[in-house]
Parts: sequence; structure tokens; C-alpha cells
Amino acid sequence: MRVLVIGSGAREHALVQALRRDPGVSAIYAAPGNAGIAQHAQVRPVDASSGEAVVALATELSADLVVIGPEVPLVLGVADAVRAAGIACFGPSAAAARIEGSKAFAKDVMAAAGVRTAHSEIVDNPADLDAALDRFGPTWVVKDDGLAAGKGVVVTADRLAARDHGAELLEQGHPVLLESFLDGPEVSLFCLVDGETVVPLLPAQDHKRVGDGDTGPNTGGMGAYTPLPWLAPETVTAIVEDVVKPVAAELVRRDCPFSGLLYAGLAIGAAGPAVVEFNCRFGDPETQAVLALLESPLGELLNATATGTLAQVAPPRWRDGAAVTVVVAAENYPGRPRVGDVITGAGESADESAAVLHAGTATREDGALVSAGGRVLSVVGVGEDLSEARDRAYERIASIKLPGSHFRTDIGLAAVEDRITVPG
Ligand code: GLY
Repeated sequence: MRVLVIGSGAREHALVQALRRDPGVSAIYAAPGNAGIAQHAQVRPVDASSGEAVVALATELSADLVVIGPEVPLVLGVADAVRAAGIACFGPSAAAARIEGSKAFAKDVMAAAGVRTAHSEIVDNPADLDAALDRFGPTWVVKDDGLAAGKGVVVTADRLAARDHGAELLEQGHPVLLESFLDGPEVSLFCLVDGETVVPLLPAQDHKRVGDGDTGPNTGGMGAYTPLPWLAPETVTAIVEDVVKPVAAELVRRDCPFSGLLYAGLAIGAAGPAVVEFNCRFGDPETQAVLALLESPLGELLNATATGTLAQVAPPRWRDGAAVTVVVAAENYPGRPRVGDVITGAGESADESAAVLHAGTATREDGALVSAGGRVLSVVGVGEDLSEARDRAYERIASIKLPGSHFRTDIGLAAVEDRITVPG
């Protein structure tokens, strides 16, 4: 099978690495890829938001399967274009991708499916902002009602900070979504979904704030770990049965069946799991940890999902142990990152328990590896348990040099120290 992966982040690098381990995959291409992906797959330039461009490339490469990583092409209908050209595609249609692209659509689907989620209101007029804020908080959850790569969210007990964020979004012409705050630890559960067939992967936890101890602004994600020692297996079953399957069934009922990766972001509160958000693609940086533990052939799972035969393949097998991914970010991220700094020490090593996956990287004309984005690298440690996986990741990071860079030192630490409890 010849596979074309669309995207340029560490998530796509993790997908490429897992596809390389699948004996059924004979060739891997990535577009546009990045400097790290280029070491493992042939990378090609592409306008990932253009269905026409992706179809032309997939046709030229005789791809049997196109795997679309990021949400923007999915929301724009690139998967529809690929399927219309007769090529199997892992990723939902534009209609189904509204589960991420339109928060109003997601709330409507969840209401119809009887799924617990935060109460919400959309504010599109600055004159309504204060009265709406009075109906929420503290704590206030203020979101950009569109795709914002996680950075459009402010969760704060400070009403002025909530108001400032809402006003800034409105000034930029973005409607604001106010949500009630959901308590309890958060879980990312990725499910392969093919119509009403739902196959969960390992649950993971993201760390969205930039600083240790969950301080500072939200980011696209600074690190993640899997599995979650504090989460009962029955809770994962409950999420699949009571959340993901009803939503998948509701999308089928609305004539926009989901095909691809449905990402349920949940808070596990006293009353059980409640949905914070759905995403229509693999999450970043959780994917880097989850796929590090996958033993089954990834290409077979993705192709089965894409071709409507997911129910016929064996459920995924996982290696024992744990994986931790730590994001190395550029100076000033999640603000406007400084780019162009030389990265050293990020090359391949023989140590299979620690991998360096690339996100915002590029190769300079003189051959030097340089930073080219906010989240620059994902360092993934694998170990017999979470503590060992953390050690592996942080030992590997110690040998990487990137001027001005920063990373969190506490990824997975609360779980190792048994400080995460589910209320109730
Ligand atoms: N882990 C956050 C995201 O992928 O949106």
C-alpha cells in the first residue's frame, strides 16, 4: 500500500513513523512534511487546503490511501475531493468535520445524541458580552467559535481577563463561545470511526497550559502521556458507549457519517464524563505518545476505516508500559514565536526508547536544522511505566539545544505522583 500523509507537524511525523512499522505499507509520502519527516518519507510541497492540489499529488504518486492530519483541510472538504477522485482517504467529509469546525453544530449533535457537555452561549455582538458573562462563571471559559488550534481558549477565574479575551475576539470579527466550566481531570480519547463502528485507542491526557503546574496561557498542547493510571477501564467503556457511539449514530442519522478519527475531549467529573470538545482528527501532542505504544499495523487500521471495513479488522494491540511526549517550543510561544534558530542534538539515535519528532523545523540552505514554528519538536519517551517514560523523554531533551526554547518539566508528573483524582 502506498500512503500519502498530509500535514507538517509532529503528529504527522508520528503517523509516518508508525506507518513505517507496518509491513503492508510499501511507500510513504508526506506533503508538505517537515525537515524530520523528510528523513523517513519522500516529502512534496502541496497546498494542503486545496482538494485539487492534494488529488493531483495523490494521483501522481499513485497513492492507495491519503491520510489527512490537520483539521483545516478536513473542514474545507479535501477528504471529499480525494474520495471523489476514487482514492481511499482517512479523514471525514466536510459535513462530518463540522463536529470540530462549528461548535454550534457539535452542540446540536450532542444534544440530539443525549451526550453531556457544557452549557454554552454564542455572543456575536459586543453589546451583549457583559450580560452573557454575568450568566457564567466563575470560572469563565471563553472560546473562539471557530478553528483556533487550542489557542483561542481562555479559562479563568478573572472576569476582566475573560471579558478582555471575548472583546478581542469580537473585535477580530470572531463570534465568542461562552461555556460553563466542567470540573474534573481531562481525557483525550481517540476513536477510529467508520459510520457506527467505533474502535477506541488508548486514552491520553494533554497539558494545554504553557507553564509547569498548569500556569500561563493555553497552547496547542505542551505534552501528553498514555495510558492514564487514574482512569478506570470502565470509564473508557462508558465514554465509547455513552458518548462516541451515540454521536457517531447521530451523524449517520443526519446523513453525514463520520469516517476517520473522532477525538473526544472530556472532563471526568462527579457526574461522569462530559464532553469539552470533539475534534475531527488525531490530536497533537497525544498522538505522538499513543502511536508509540501501538503494535498493530497502523496502515491496515487507517485503510480499513477509510474503506468502510473497520468492523472486520482485529482491535488494536498495544505494547505494555507507558509513553510520554514533551513539546519543545520556540521562544515566545504561544505568542508569535521566534524562528530561524539553529537546533542541535535532535538527530536520530539508536535508543528506541526516546524519539525526536519534528513539527516546526526546516533545513536551512547551508544544511543546518532550524526552528520554523511555535511547537518545534516532540520528544517521546517510552518505558515500562510512566516514571521511566518521563525519564527517557527528559534525558533525550537534555541533549537538544535550541536558543530561547522552553518546555514543561512536569508532563505526566501528577499521574506519577498519584495526584489526579476523579471527583465524586
Ligand atoms: N491536543 C489538542 C488538540 O489536538 O487539539
